Amino acid sequence: MSLAIVPGSFDPFTLGHRAIVESALSDFDEVVVALMVNAEKEYRFPLSERMAFAKASLADLPRVRVIFDGGLLVDLYRRLGADAVCKGIRNETDRAYEEKMDEWNRERCEGFRSVFYEALPGLVEVSSTKARERLEESPDGLEGLLHPSVIALLKEKQGNPGKGKA
Ligand code: PNS
Repeated sequence: MSLAIVPGSFDPFTLGHRAIVESALSDFDEVVVALMVNAEKEYRFPLSERMAFAKASLADLPRVRVIFDGGLLVDLYRRLGADAVCKGIRNETDRAYEEKMDEWNRERCEGFRSVFYEALPGLVEVSSTKARERLEESPDGLEGLLHPSVIALLKEKQGNPGKGKA
């Protein structure tokens, strides 16, 4: 059984992230989507919501698990006996960033391997940043960026502000 990790901040989980999981599913038997911490980021959504968005976005896909791990990616990789980490590449900036992370991880974990999937043309402009920016204006206009189930959760929250800011 081959296993791939798709790690990220997922703030929030986008259709681009889902496409990476789908690509990973075609290459590996099992995919673990790992919500992890990027120490350089401050998050817009609390952990519980980022988890809920990721799970809702992937609910119909088989062979996928969503987990949270607050440690290092290399430690998770070893613990799960993973075969690869899968990341998406939209442009040269992404590539440079991901290659640097891959190098950092390979220096610390023998056998660590990254698989990069180039974004499909329709997903090149999709990002969590763009989704957060749009959301500042309205929860409308998020189609094409977020899974319908995530948009529904955001709208539900908007109609129920006691649940927190959205
Ligand atoms: O979606 P992001 O913010 O680009 O994801 C980055 C993430 C969370 C995958 C990365 O920061 C990470 O691997 N964090 C776990 C902690 C770790 O291993 N840090 C060193 C890797 S450079």
